Parts: sequence; C-alpha cells; structure tokens
Amino acid sequence: MASGARFRGFTWRPLGRREPVIAAFDLTIEGGERVLITGPSGAGKSTLLYALAGSLGHTISGELTGAVEVDGRIGLLLQNPGDAVVAERIGRDVAFGPENLGLSREEIRARVADALGAVGMPYGTEHFTSALSGGELQRLALAGVLAMQPEIFLLDEPTSMLDETNATAVREAILEATAGSTLVVVEHHIGPWLEHVDRVIVLSRSGEIVSDGTPAALRADPNPPDGVWMPGLPTPTPLDIPADLVTPRATPLQLVAEDLSIDLMTRTLRGTDTSRALRQMSARLRAGDVTAFTGPSGAGKSTALAAFGGLLKPRTGTITPAVHTWTSRLLADAIGWVPQNPEHGFLASTVGGEVERTSGRLGVAVDAAALLEVFGLGHLALANPYRLSGGEQRRLALAAALGHRPGVALLDEPTVGQDRHTWAAVAGWFASAARAGAAVALSTHDAGVPRDIDYALRAGELV
Ligand SMILES: Nc1ncnc2c1ncn2[C@@H]1O[C@H](COP(=O)(O)OP(=O)(O)OP(=O)(O)O)[C@@H](O)[C@H]1O
Ligand SMILES: [Mg+2]
Repeated sequence: MASGARFRGFTWRPLGRREPVIAAFDLTIEGGERVLITGPSGAGKSTLLYALAGSLGHTISGELTGAVEVDGRIGLLLQNPGDAVVAERIGRDVAFGPENLGLSREEIRARVADALGAVGMPYGTEHFTSALSGGELQRLALAGVLAMQPEIFLLDEPTSMLDETNATAVREAILEATAGSTLVVVEHHIGPWLEHVDRVIVLSRSGEIVSDGTPAALRADPNPPDGVWMPGLPTPTPLDIPADLVTPRATPLQLVAEDLSIDLMTRTLRGTDTSRALRQMSARLRAGDVTAFTGPSGAGKSTALAAFGGLLKPRTGTITPAVHTWTSRLLADAIGWVPQNPEHGFLASTVGGEVERTSGRLGVAVDAAALLEVFGLGHLALANPYRLSGGEQRRLALAAALGHRPGVALLDEPTVGQDRHTWAAVAGWFASAARAGAAVALSTHDAGVPRDIDYALRAGELV
C-alpha cells in the first residue's frame, strides 16, 4: 500500500460530546487514488482528514478507538485557511513546511516560488500575510501544502472562498501538483471535481458512508444522496422563515456610501503598511433589498461590508449615516455583522449562550431554541462554539448576529460551506429578513444566492 490510508473500526468521540460523531468506520484508500468526500455539514468530513493527519487525540481532544493507518507523508489544507498562517510575510509562510523538511535554501526558494505561482498569488514574497483577503489566505495555505510535496494530499474545501475564475485556476493547479499522488479532497460543490477523481464517498449526517463508487455511478444514481450538491440539480428553494424571527425591531436604516475610499493599515514589526482597499465606491443598501457585493478574490467585498458596519473610517467620501462614529452598542443594536471568519468572534462557552449574547447585552428577548432549530443547530445547543464543524460555526455566527433582529444585516460569504439543506436555511433567513423590511448586504461568490441588487467590484473599484 504505497501512500495509502486505512480506517478500521474508527470511532471518535470529541471532548464534550456524549456520543461519537463517527463510529465503527471502515475505509481503505489506495496509494495514488483520487478521492472526493462529500456529505452534509457536520457529517464528519473534516474529522476524517484530521484523523489521517494524526491530529485527533493530540491537537483535538477526545477519545479515539479503532485504527487509522497512513502510509506516506501527508499535507493537510485546513478548512479555515486563516488557521494555518505562521509568518508575517507570505514567502516565509510558504517556506515554513519545506524548512521543517530540512531542504536546502535553493530548493526552498524554488519550491516557494513554484507554489505561489501555482496558486496565482498576485503578490511577491515580501507581502504581509495580515493584508490578505479570505480567498488569498486560502491560496496561501494551499501554496504551503504544495511546497511540501507530500505523498498524500488532504484538502478540506480548498476553493470555498474563491470566485469561479480563481477556483478553476486553483483546481487545475491542485490537479497538476497532485498528479501521481494520493488525493483526498472534501467539497460540498462536487460538480467541478467529478471528472477528475476516481471515487466519490458520500457521508450521511451521522458519519456513515451512504455511497462509495465512481463519479459515473453517482451521476447515474436515480436517487442521489439527500442534500448533496449534485450537478444539474436546481438551486434549492430558500426556506420561509417565520416573520416573528426575522422582522426588524426598529425602522431599518438605509445606508449610503458616496465616493467612498478606504485605506487598510497593516501593523508590522517595522511600522505600518497602507493599502487602498476601496476606491471611490458609491453604493446604497436599501431596506427591503438583498444587496450583493461580488467580484474576484481580493476585490474589496469584505472591506465594503466592514465599512457599512461602521468598523472602518472613510479616507475620503462618506457613509450616511456616519456609522463609524457610533458607539459599539448603537452599532450592535442596529447592525448585525458576520465576518468572513466568524469563528474568531465567539465568546460564550455554549452554542445556546452565543446566540443569546448580543441580544442579552441589548436586553432583547430572543427565541434561541427556534433560532438554533432553523439553522440546524438544535442538537448542539450545549456544545462549545469552538468545537463545531466549519459549516456549523458559520451558521452559529449568523444566528448570533441576527437573533436580535437588527434592521441591517451585513453578511460576509454567508453560504460558504453549506449543504443544500443548510444553504436553504441560510438563504431563507436573509431573504425572509429582507422581505420583512431589513436591509441585507452580503459578499458572495455564490451565483445561486438570491439578491435584488449587485455591485461588482474589481481591485477596490465598482465595475
Ligand atoms: N473540535 C471539535 N471538537 C468537538 N466536536 C467537533 C469538533 N469539530 C467538529 N466537531 C463535531 O464533529 C462532527 C463532525 O464535524 P466535522 O467538522 O468533521 O464535519 P464536516 O462534515 O467537516 O462539516 P462541514 O461541512 O460543516 O465542515 C460535528 O457534529 C461537529 O459538531
Ligand atoms: Mg468540514
């Protein structure tokens, strides 16, 4: 078994859970095989990759029984790419893995340059990692994995933060770099991968294998597994959320940006570095509309949302009302904001507590149980917010930011990492909120997201 892997009776009960999330799991991956793993959010896809990477029971606490055998050097791309950043500059960051392999300086330099080129990084090695957008961070993390030239590639949703063009380029780079190696890739949107893999494994909500075969067999299946983004299926219908959960508590604001330019400052060891993230953008967030900011990785979408959220000061131009001058309490009351990496903001020790945190601070009553149920988190009310799957964390952040029914919702990539059912809940939430009068703005690469207005950005400018 060259560079293969095997699970035998693998059972994993994370710390804090009564029941295992995966039980008596058997799977053999042959050396050189190219395997796609999919299934509902929370099924255990990332858990399988962590198991192969040897993290379970070490960096992630819990009880592991059975056996996980891996034959070969692995490279793991984490679902949340921000978690992998180790250095201040992108060149050093990518060099970290190869340095640990004890390679020569010339070899390391060559590998770093190749890897950054392969993922289409638009900056030189001296660029600051803290100045990268979500999609750029994802490509940086992938470059780090490619530079190690592992025998087994474990890639967790490697293109989830990328626009279609960059996703295609990155997918091609992955396929080229992994040719001849073992590849295990986890994805919700399986369509573009199907023609490139030998085998597709679909997990159920409870972590059992419900389908394991060739892409052709899966495509031909008249009853494909529930909730999976099979190519050709229509976009799911957003759920209708009861009005009492989404109707704004106060008259929603209309936010208007005029000729707005924003500079972003990166603090470094040697001082600060400034870059212009938005250039003279004019946009309007109307009550009752879903407004989408779109554009390639690094275009300024997150900056636009953060500016409307009062978190950034205009360099020139205006936002009306002048939200950046508001107190944090006033902002929290009027505006729900979900950043691109929402998991970094959790403060409560339970999922239920997190949902009630903002509303509790504002003295607003929320029906936390109903909220969690809508977002498919009802069974996790007592779990620790930091011990959730990627998709679950994003849904929790949405529930926590919107539970008190603010008049404005600013959502950075809200549908990333969702299966068809959880997607329908997320899209249903903001579509229903807009219908009930809220001003909803989001940044997205997801063509299926329902929206009323589109602002397309490129390099900080409206196009
Ligand atoms: N660090 C952790 N500690 C405890 N439980 C966890 C942890 N990470 C995930 N879980 C739980 O384990 C189960 C499987 O999670 P996993 O992250 O493997 O799901 P996933 O299939 O990758 O989902 P997603 O598509 O949302 O990323 C879920 O019930 C989740 O809540
Ligand atoms: Mg995952």
